[in-house]
Amino acid sequence: MPTEPPSATDPAFGILTARAEANPDALDTIVDELVDELTLDERLAMMSGDLDFWPGLVEMLRGGYGHTPYVGGAIERLGLPGVRFSDGPRGVTLGHSTCFPVSMARGATWDPELEERVGAAMGGEARAQGANLIGSVCINLLYHPAWGRAQETYGEDPCHVGAMGAAAVEGIQRHVMACVKHFALNNMENARFQVDVTASPRVLHEVYLPHFRRCVDAGAACVMSAYNSVNGDWCGHNRTLLTEILKDRWGFDGFVITDWLYGIRDAHAAANAGVDVEMPFRMHYARQLRALVDDGVVPQVRIDDAARRLLRTMLRAAASTTIPAPDVVAGDDHRALARDVARQSLVLLRNEAVDGRPVLPLDPDGLRRVAVLGPLAAMVNTGDAGSSDVRPPEVVTPLAGLRDALACEVVHDDGADPARAAALATEADVAIVVVGYTSADEGEFIDPSANPELYALFPPLDPADPVAAELTDAIRSRDDRARGGDRAQLTLHRSDEELLRAVAAAQPRTVAVIVTGSAVVTERWRDRVPAIVVAWYSGMEGGRALADVLLGREAPSGRLPCAFPIDEGDLPPFDRQAHHVEYGLYHGQQHHDHVGRPPAFPLGWGLTYTEFEHGPPAATVGGDGIDVELDITNVGARAGADVVQCYAEAPDSDVERPRRWLVGFQRVALEPGASTRVSIRVPVETLASWDETGDRFVVEGTRYDLVVAPHAASPGQTVSVDVGERALT
Ligand code: BGC
Repeated sequence: MPTEPPSATDPAFGILTARAEANPDALDTIVDELVDELTLDERLAMMSGDLDFWPGLVEMLRGGYGHTPYVGGAIERLGLPGVRFSDGPRGVTLGHSTCFPVSMARGATWDPELEERVGAAMGGEARAQGANLIGSVCINLLYHPAWGRAQETYGEDPCHVGAMGAAAVEGIQRHVMACVKHFALNNMENARFQVDVTASPRVLHEVYLPHFRRCVDAGAACVMSAYNSVNGDWCGHNRTLLTEILKDRWGFDGFVITDWLYGIRDAHAAANAGVDVEMPFRMHYARQLRALVDDGVVPQVRIDDAARRLLRTMLRAAASTTIPAPDVVAGDDHRALARDVARQSLVLLRNEAVDGRPVLPLDPDGLRRVAVLGPLAAMVNTGDAGSSDVRPPEVVTPLAGLRDALACEVVHDDGADPARAAALATEADVAIVVVGYTSADEGEFIDPSANPELYALFPPLDPADPVAAELTDAIRSRDDRARGGDRAQLTLHRSDEELLRAVAAAQPRTVAVIVTGSAVVTERWRDRVPAIVVAWYSGMEGGRALADVLLGREAPSGRLPCAFPIDEGDLPPFDRQAHHVEYGLYHGQQHHDHVGRPPAFPLGWGLTYTEFEHGPPAATVGGDGIDVELDITNVGARAGADVVQCYAEAPDSDVERPRRWLVGFQRVALEPGASTRVSIRVPVETLASWDETGDRFVVEGTRYDLVVAPHAASPGQTVSVDVGERALT
């Protein structure tokens, strides 16, 4: 194996890329020629990470996770650079890259165009630092808000998550290949290495897979298989998912990689199921594939198919992408984008009037003293400390952002003593209390000792091998910050709740700023706190964005990408240690609707500083979709943005359907007094349901009510359509 693999600018690869660029129709011919030129061992080598397992692991533990790209499938002889993978969803983990708000925050913008820009920025930063593939498109649905990695996805709804994910793919692939993960049904953390998720074909195709398909249709180069098992097969061994659905039914012509280290447990099952590359090191494939091919157990056409997929996708990407200058990394433009996204992601949950005036926005001219309180006010807290951790050159905390923006006195207390914090709040004109979670409460759970059976997957290590001593050393000195895991509860910490109550009792103008990766149960304190803002993990510019919104420089426009329940008991059960779970048709908002227990704040909820009026919707059925149009006017006194949401209902359906489901949305920014006509395209497939007998989607010949509404629980305004019965592929 080469110690220094050929770089993406290797001349030989450059010649191939230039040929592919000059004549995209010749791509398959070039790929065929290349495959013919590769020996079987080289083809097999392309199917693994490049480093041997134990030295690779030592480097991973020692060098810090994700500091350099993980390389797989480089072939020195032909100048093939292989895949050079970097994570992750909130920015590039290499070097000191821009740290964006987490995906859940970006989901709250409901703005795919903005997400495309974020994708392009991440792709550019990755490429400028030597990667050609990034694992930034995490689109597992938020089945339950306690999921430890909730922050890495965009929300609970397949239509919304699909639109955001596809936009990210398009942006990223201006510069590098996008890896969409984790395929599939990876929605719990602590149990991810042990849980089998059962789901019927209908539940799979209608609920848990459509957003993956949307990303594949957007041209995603790569899909990462998940750790968990689905319907009895580990995702990395799951032929139904990887070959029958992804590659055959959807026509995915990119490549499948495993999730890291524990992604597959057996080369035979994985290769025949459709895994193309085992990452990040030489493990099962490197040890077993050659013999399996020689014995005819894994057909060589499968190996050639994997090689072809990799080469075709890499060449296509290299020929169609650009390499930005190194100074894009955390440069001014990307930092400004991070601030813009953070501003647009803040969700104003509540904004009651005190003395006849809503608490927000604050009037900076009328302020003498502001108290910024709470354990997270001055903390650098950009989210999970696992594989998605980004190390930006600087992080603007809420306190720093507010201090920077306010000319008046700003006092701060960490709130450890609620009485002391309340005293400060009394002497101020307003109290801003920043509470919520950190990577200690939620995030990726990296503790293989919780599943000791995983160690048996590693190649044997001779204790006399010098790498054994290095490993012991590396384990001893490793950074153990990443505890995370599924959140223990959906409420805030008791101490946060106590602080909020104490401060709000002392200061009528209290603003709660909640840092979280998903839904929070707010019942024990909500009514006492007049203004509540969900800030999520808001990235390196989050503090400035918070100040922008609290001080009214920009009106909040974020909308919840997941319902916030009144009580965890209103959700489907979530067993953090489960070995088996069954997913049905409903979770999130649709589960609330189904069981008749409304959430505290529905999907799509968010207040702002102005008011919008929606005219009656009109619908035109045409081809494979429906255009829903309506006039919208900003009837308030401030500029702002609205997110117009379109839900479908099928009251006369012959099959069980959710009470209503999201089929489209559009964010619109308007100056005060301005009007515009909004058009939302509703693809006909969003109305379809899965017909298990026919093994396909069908649109029933029934009446569909399309409800245009400001959030999922609003009566909205309805326009009915009949699109005729249709069978879809
Ligand atoms: C995570 C993936 C990630 C990979 C590489 C794994 O632990 O589950 O999401 O892409 O590491 O960083």
